[in-house]
Amino acid sequence: MSKNLNLDDFGIYEGISEVIVTTIHGWTPNAAPMGIIRRKGKLFLRLFKGSTTYSNVLSEKMIVANVVWDPAMFVCSTFTDLEDSHFETVNFKGRNFVTLKNAQCWLAFECTNTKLTSDALVTELVPMKVHINKCIIRAPNRGLFGVIESCIHATRYQLTGEEKYLKLIKAYGDIVDKCGGDEEKEAMKLLYGLL
Ligand SMILES: Cc1cc2nc3c(=O)[nH]c(=O)nc-3n(C[C@H](O)[C@H](O)[C@H](O)COP(=O)(O)O)c2cc1C
Repeated sequence: MSKNLNLDDFGIYEGISEVIVTTIHGWTPNAAPMGIIRRKGKLFLRLFKGSTTYSNVLSEKMIVANVVWDPAMFVCSTFTDLEDSHFETVNFKGRNFVTLKNAQCWLAFECTNTKLTSDALVTELVPMKVHINKCIIRAPNRGLFGVIESCIHATRYQLTGEEKYLKLIKAYGDIVDKCGGDEEKEAMKLLYGLL
């Protein structure tokens, strides 16, 4: 793939971009929110041990980063398995990978230079194939960010059981109430139901 690929055109800017990463092992697709790290022109993923994404990256050495604005998708892919109907299988140079049908765009990456530590892996991402489905022009909405922050605190709450995370989720929930639309409020309800 061209080295001149402009990541900005696919919504991946300097810093950490929250995307939904899809992977496949055998015929089983998986989706989970992950942060794509872009620093000085390079892209990385840092995965903590224990997730399906972590083991799929080790075995398959490829991922797809899906750019998604759907708040329910963030909640569901954090805590449950998405239904098969959400995925689309793409074949590229004899390899199958999965993408999300409702992604604005997706980028398929090969995972290289993977380094393991005791609790995580860091892998460098090299673009293989990219695709744009639709372009949504949308001003930042604090409700969506509130749902995303809540999902992150909810994963920490599930890991540790610490009360402080519930308080943070409640605070972000208040922002979703104030600034979110119906989709964000529904997603927040889903999240409360999963805690
Ligand atoms: C917005 C967001 C970003 C996340 N980023 C990461 C990440 O960069 N690395 C990671 O290991 N986990 C991250 N997580 C946690 C995983 O999504 C979570 O552990 C998930 O349950 C893993 O699912 P899986 O087992 O299907 O792979 C993130 C969660 C959220 C909500």
